[in-house]
Order: sequence, then C-alpha cells, then structure tokens
Amino acid sequence: MILIVGGAGYIGSHINKDLNKKGYQTLILDDLSSGKEALVKWGKLVVGSLGDEAVLEKIFSENKIETVMHFGAFKAAGESVVNPEKYYFNNVANTLTLLKVMKKHGVGKFIFSSSAAVYGVPQYNPMDEKHPKSPINPYGRTKLMVEEILEDYSVAYGLKYVALRYFNAAGADPEVEVGEWPGGCANLIPVIFDVVSGRKPELKVFGTDYETTDGTCIRDYIHVSDLADAHVKAVEYLNNGGTSDKFNLGNGNGFSVKEVINIAKEVTGVDFKVVEAERRPGDPAILMADSKKAREVLGWQPIHQDLREIVETGWKWEESVNI
Ligand SMILES: NC(=O)c1ccc[n+]([C@@H]2O[C@H](COP(=O)([O-])OP(=O)(O)OC[C@H]3O[C@@H](n4cnc5c(N)ncnc54)[C@H](O)[C@@H]3O)[C@@H](O)[C@H]2O)c1
Repeated sequence: MILIVGGAGYIGSHINKDLNKKGYQTLILDDLSSGKEALVKWGKLVVGSLGDEAVLEKIFSENKIETVMHFGAFKAAGESVVNPEKYYFNNVANTLTLLKVMKKHGVGKFIFSSSAAVYGVPQYNPMDEKHPKSPINPYGRTKLMVEEILEDYSVAYGLKYVALRYFNAAGADPEVEVGEWPGGCANLIPVIFDVVSGRKPELKVFGTDYETTDGTCIRDYIHVSDLADAHVKAVEYLNNGGTSDKFNLGNGNGFSVKEVINIAKEVTGVDFKVVEAERRPGDPAILMADSKKAREVLGWQPIHQDLREIVETGWKWEESVNI
C-alpha cells in the first residue's frame, strides 16, 4: 500500500488517481488545510496532520505501507517570506516527524514533492539538476532542507528516496475527475480563472520589460497528469532497486505570460481585464527545466505539452466545480 500524504490536494489527487488505475492500493493522509475531501475519489482518507505522531503511529501500525509519497506542505512563496515559521514548521519539522515514524516502522521508500524553487535565480536555462541550489525565499529553503535531510537519511539509515523538482504544475485531469480547487492559488493560470469567474477584478502582469520575445516572463508549465505519470515511474524505479536521486520535471517548452493570457482568452471566451504592473522582486525573466535525466533514468516523457491543452483541461475542471 502507498501512503499519499497531502493526497487531497491538487497534485496528490492526480497521483492518487493514476496509482489506483495502475492497480496500487492507496491510503491518504491530509489535514484538509488546503485539500478537499471531494478530491479523494480513490483509497481511504485519514484526516490528520503529518506532524501528529499518534496519527502516524496508528497508520503505520494498522496498514502495510511500502512507500510514502509526500505532497503535504504549504506552497505560497510570497507568504513564506512574511511568515517563515509557518513554513519551517509544516514543511520541515513535520516532515521530520513523518520520517522518524517511517523509520521506526521500517518503511524505506519515499517520494518527495520538491520544487524548482530550490535553484533560485537561474544562472543558465534550461536548468539541469546540477544547477547551483540557492533558494531566494523560505519556501524554497524548506524544500532544499528536506532534500538534504533525505540524503542524510539515505546515507545513515538506508532510506531510498526520489525527490521530484516540479516546475509550474498546471492543467487538470483530462477526464475531469480531479483538478485544482478554484480560488486558493496564486499561480498564473488559477488566478486567470479567478478573474474569468469574477472572484478577482483583474489580472496583474508583473513586468512587461523583460528581455524576452514579448517582454513578459517565460515559465515552464508542466501538466499535472504528466507529473502523475512521473510519480508512478518513480515508484517503479524504487521498486526495481533504483538508487536515491533527484529529478527535474518540466514541460520542455516555455510560455510567456502574454501567451498564456491570449490562449486563456480564447479557451474561456472571456476578454478579461489585464493590468500591467511593476516587476516583482525575485522574478527571473526565464525559468526553464532540463528534464533529460527523468526521461533517461525514469523513462518518463511528458505528453500534454501543448499550452492550449493545459489551459483547456484546467478550464474544463473549473467549469465542472460548483463553488
Ligand atoms: N503546484 C505547484 O506548481 C508546485 C510546484 C512545485 C512543488 N509543489 C509541491 O507539491 C506539493 C503539492 O502541491 P499542490 O499544488 O498539490 O498543493 P495543495 O495545497 O493542493 O496540496 C497540499 C496538500 O497537503 C495538505 N497538507 C498540508 N499540510 C499538511 C499537514 N501538516 N498534514 C497533512 N496534510 C497537509 C493540504 O491540505 C493539501 O491537500 C507541495 O509540497 C508543493 O510544495 C507544487
């Protein structure tokens, strides 16, 4: 059985679907701080925190857990600057509790949701895994700290782990069974949907004078179903004796903010209000992943690379949710 911590969230719910489709049994632990019970459509949900040792003890004593997948974290980089304590406690301290109880129960395989935020400002693009790690906010530092803890656990206690460094997760399940819950995320595409759906008055574009083709930032949007597939491949990799390692997961294509806006206007049929604003500190012009290693070692290949498909699947999901 696979324990999916944070499996009631956006990315975890897609992995839960894929694992069940492939015949794996799953158990979900989520405190529903941002996750939704409605997104847990496969496996049993235990509502509780990964920092609660008693809850973890019960889960690991009552179930034969072979692998733990860990999505349970806070993810708003901006908030982590004003409230770092919240991030260090949940993302780092609680993860240590999880690792401690896993070790006690002899559970030795771990798949971790890391992030492109571990790299900080790109020194070159696309960035491979060897790119220097210099996170520029507490959120990125929590991800790097956990990666370092995992490496120490692997050396000292034999933990086998895979850290997957996602770039910008986007889109939703093409079968519209799960998706990102509307209204709770500061990323570009969800915010566009907030504006289209009237939850926000306008879309702010931060910086139009970058050295890119149209002056707006270029990012690497990776479809969440492609992320899900990479997790299943990571499970297989560890089951087949693969060694602990870290992998980038990106689309391979970069899209500018203006390109995303134009496609979103076409897909939604709404000519929403866009306002040009100043650059935000810490926003690099271009952020792109080199995911060659994941393709070569895990045998992974993203298949939903088209921006229109990414926006369309996200919008279809958004329209299907009644909030
Ligand atoms: N969305 C992205 O673009 C992106 C990019 C890079 C990395 N990540 C990482 O991927 C993971 C999943 O992100 P997401 O976009 O699905 O976010 P999400 O907020 O939708 O999912 C996180 C889930 O973890 C749960 N959770 C948080 N703290 C918990 C705790 N203490 N105990 C139990 N459950 C807890 C939340 O309720 C939620 O269901 C996060 O670790 C995030 O940092 C996300």
